[in-house]
Amino acid sequence: MIKTIGLTKDFKAGKEMVSVLKGVEFTVKEGEFVGIIGPSGSGKTTLLHLLAGLDTPTEGSIQLNGDELSSQSEKQRTIFRRQKIGLVFQNYQLLPTLTVFENIAFPLHADGKKTSTKDVNELLEAVDLKGYEKRFPNELSGGQQQRVAIARALIHKPAILLADEPTGNLDRERSSEILDLLAKLHQERNQTIVMVTHDMFAAGYSDRIVLFKDGVIEAEVQREDEEYAFFLSRFMA
Ligand SMILES: Nc1ncnc2c1ncn2[C@@H]1O[C@H](COP(=O)(O)OP(=O)(O)O)[C@@H](O)[C@H]1O
Ligand SMILES: [Mg+2]
Repeated sequence: MIKTIGLTKDFKAGKEMVSVLKGVEFTVKEGEFVGIIGPSGSGKTTLLHLLAGLDTPTEGSIQLNGDELSSQSEKQRTIFRRQKIGLVFQNYQLLPTLTVFENIAFPLHADGKKTSTKDVNELLEAVDLKGYEKRFPNELSGGQQQRVAIARALIHKPAILLADEPTGNLDRERSSEILDLLAKLHQERNQTIVMVTHDMFAAGYSDRIVLFKDGVIEAEVQREDEEYAFFLSRFMA
């Protein structure tokens, strides 16, 4: 579904160029739940932004179902992002003046589509927030806000859900709720998910853990692999 080849990204820092991604070879298959783990500053958010078409690589290519993303125009990438990508951020990024219902429906408006009350209600149920539709974000806990953000990210039925540190602002218990929800969306709806985290506890919910370090993939492990538990314990320690 996603395939990156020799993906590099340099940023200008003053006079110097900083190389953040140094040739990333990353693939995601349809229906996978992938966790990307790596230390802060290792380039995880940069990679996710490139996958979302929010930024362009310095070199290398990103293919989505065979289409080359990096050769598309800004406008094409915007359309691609709206139709194919759902994004979830650490700080939820809900619109404070809109209700829960309106926040979830918002991407449909932005796309000029009619609100599907049925779809919004169905997602409210999926994220366990039925009865909260008239509340405003500041009337919700952090965990509830993140569940609204996840519902919003799914309203246009994206091919892939990209989540950047979705539990970064939450305590362990609320984190578990969000991670359980992502696992449920993956299992019950076959939602393809790529989640970035610096927390091995969170990464342990995914089927495949990709260890990211200094701008390259250092190691990968699948849940079926014998090394999976060892891998987890090594990094949880
Ligand atoms: N727009 C930018 N301009 C300059 N440097 C950037 C920019 N975005 C990220 N960086 C740098 O790239 C490195 C990796 O950042 P990031 O992808 O956010 O890492 P992570 O998400 O793993 O913490 C950091 O050193 C950061 O300062
Ligand atoms: Mg980051």
